[in-house]
Parts: sequence; C-alpha cells; structure tokens
Amino acid sequence: MSQSQFVSKCTTDALQLAATTLLHGNLVAFPTETVYGLGADALNKQAVARIYETKGRPSDHPLIVHLHSMQVMGQWVEDVPEYAIALARDFWPGPMTLIFKRSTLAQDFITGGQDTVGIRVPNHVVALALLEAFHTLGGRGIAAPSANRFGHVSPTTAQAVSDELSEYLRPEDQILDGGPCTVGVESTIIDCTGQVPRILRPGAITLAMISGSTGIDEQELSNAQKAQAQAIRVSGSLEKHYAPMAKVLLCETPLPGQGFVAHAKIQTPEGVIRLASPSSDEEFAQVLYSALRDADAKGIAEVVIIQPIGVGIAVAIRDRLRRAANGR
Ligand code: TXA
Ligand code: MG
Repeated sequence: MSQSQFVSKCTTDALQLAATTLLHGNLVAFPTETVYGLGADALNKQAVARIYETKGRPSDHPLIVHLHSMQVMGQWVEDVPEYAIALARDFWPGPMTLIFKRSTLAQDFITGGQDTVGIRVPNHVVALALLEAFHTLGGRGIAAPSANRFGHVSPTTAQAVSDELSEYLRPEDQILDGGPCTVGVESTIIDCTGQVPRILRPGAITLAMISGSTGIDEQELSNAQKAQAQAIRVSGSLEKHYAPMAKVLLCETPLPGQGFVAHAKIQTPEGVIRLASPSSDEEFAQVLYSALRDADAKGIAEVVIIQPIGVGIAVAIRDRLRRAANGR
C-alpha cells in the first residue's frame, strides 16, 4: 500500500510545499468548511484524471473549481448575472458553489463536456492559504470533489480522508489536516445560467438567504427550481449517494443493536447504540457523516436516524439522508 504524506501542521512552509506538489501534477486533499476535498491543478488533464481514478468516479461528472477570491472568477466563466454577483459578495468565502457558462479555460475534463463550470471560494484558513499559495505560483484554480470514493459519505476529518483514499494515493500526494469541518455537509450548488438562480443541491446557504441576497422572492425561487427539468449532471443529485455501508433507516423506532442518530432531546431506547446527539440542526450537519462512518467502523448493520424538521440546513440534511437511505 502506498503512503501519501499526512500533513498535520499546516504552516506557511507546509502549504507552500503543498501548492508546489499540486503544480507538479500530484493530488492534495485539503479541508474546507463543508467537507474535505481532493484537489488537483484544474488545468492539468493528467492530474484531474487521477482524481477520477482515485475516487472511482465516472469521468463525465463535472468538478468544482476552487479559487482564493471571486476577483479571479472572470478567467473561468462568462455571463455572470447581477444576482450572482450579489450571492458571491454575500456568501464567499463560504459554503456555496455557483454554476456559470464556462470560459475556454474550463476544459471538458473539468466540466464533463458540459458548457458550464462550477466555482467556489471556500471559507477555511487552510484551504484559502493553499489556494493563495497556488495562485502566487501561477496556478489558476484547484479542481476538487469531496475526498471520498464515489457514492460514499464525504469525509469531514483528515483521518476519514486517509481511511477512504490512502490505498489509492501515491507517496507524492498529500493529505492536509485542518481539523474537523465546521459545516459538515457539502456546499449549496446554485445554477446561475438562468434568469433566476436555481438550487441544484441544498446546503448551508438556504433559499431564504438566497432570496435575501438577491432580492428575488422565495416563491419565485422555488417555482424556478420546480419548473426546469434537471438537465445537468450532478452526482450529488443521484438518488443513491452519500451512503455508508450500514443500511440507513428513516422514521423508524430503533431496535436493540441498531445505531441511532437523533436530536439530543430524543432519548435512546434500551440496547440501542447512540452514535450522535446533536442539540441543533447545525450540529446535526456537523456530526452526521462522522456518525455514519462510526457506524461502519463499529460494524453496525443498520442505523435509524430521526431527521430534523424545518427549514435552514435541515433541508440539506434531509436531502442527503434520503439518498443515503437508498443505499450504495
Ligand atoms: O462542499 C463542496 O462542494 C465540496 C468541497 C470539497 O468544496 N465539494 C464537493 O464536490 O462536494 P463533489 O464533486 O463531491 O460534488 C460537487 C457536485 C457534483 O455532484 C457535481 O456533479 C456538481 O457538483 N457539479 C460540478 N460542476 C457542475 C456543473 N458545471 N454543473 C452542474 N453540476 C456540477
Ligand atoms: Mg461528493
């Protein structure tokens, strides 16, 4: 088994080295506020091909290009509507990915052959420092999907990245440890190619926040979302995704020997293995994926999850849980 370098102290020098490693065509897994990403130079076809190999992901699924600042977004995209500028100003750096018509810089090996490209400025000191160092060295952007095998749960710690991918990584590759992710579910993806923004994947940036930022009525936003057929390939919108080995059961009463995730105020029935007791929806998102990994590590066959109700990030949690419940 090859051993990628596990970097636990992300000093300026270490990040400089990681940026150089990326420019040399290797892979660097790095923390963001949502989940850990598996990064490659977005202009390097071979390096990007290794992302797909390492994840076992179909090559026609597009990747998000990560940038250190919205100022350099213009290199990658064309036709930026005014509402998207408002969103970028309000929520970047942050847990939001915007989809635009691509420029020629965004080649087919990034976009899966589509004429759009996804852009994100993440909000994590390590990610931003890496992106800045990469930019200073002349890099244009870092392509990064979540650092897990295709269809599996996204990693929210460096150890989880290592558990998922170390057997597929090379000694030249690196895993940067930036601590546990604070958001815990993947970014909100917003299609900005139409008259009105459209959520393709819910996340911490909610419909209400998008409405507040753009001045577009919430009702109009949700109508736009329903009206257009899903023509874009988003692996995160596959009906089976984000799944652990354990079977995920929703809305059931847990039985002895089963795993259990629910809000802290819900008690644990006798014999049931409590995996997490979040006391808010934000904490629910934060701990969900590590609880699912924990179930697998403990060899638990079935996990009952009582979903959070309501709006906000609970929408994203229910979205992921529905797909997780459909299995691997
Ligand atoms: O929070 C996140 O977004 C994390 C961190 C690492 O930034 N990244 C992430 O990447 O979740 P990934 O590849 O696991 O999921 C991104 C989703 C995929 O389902 C992909 O199909 C979709 O974004 N996507 C990327 N580019 C797209 C495009 N041009 N049009 C539509 N969907 C796109
Ligand atoms: Mg993913």
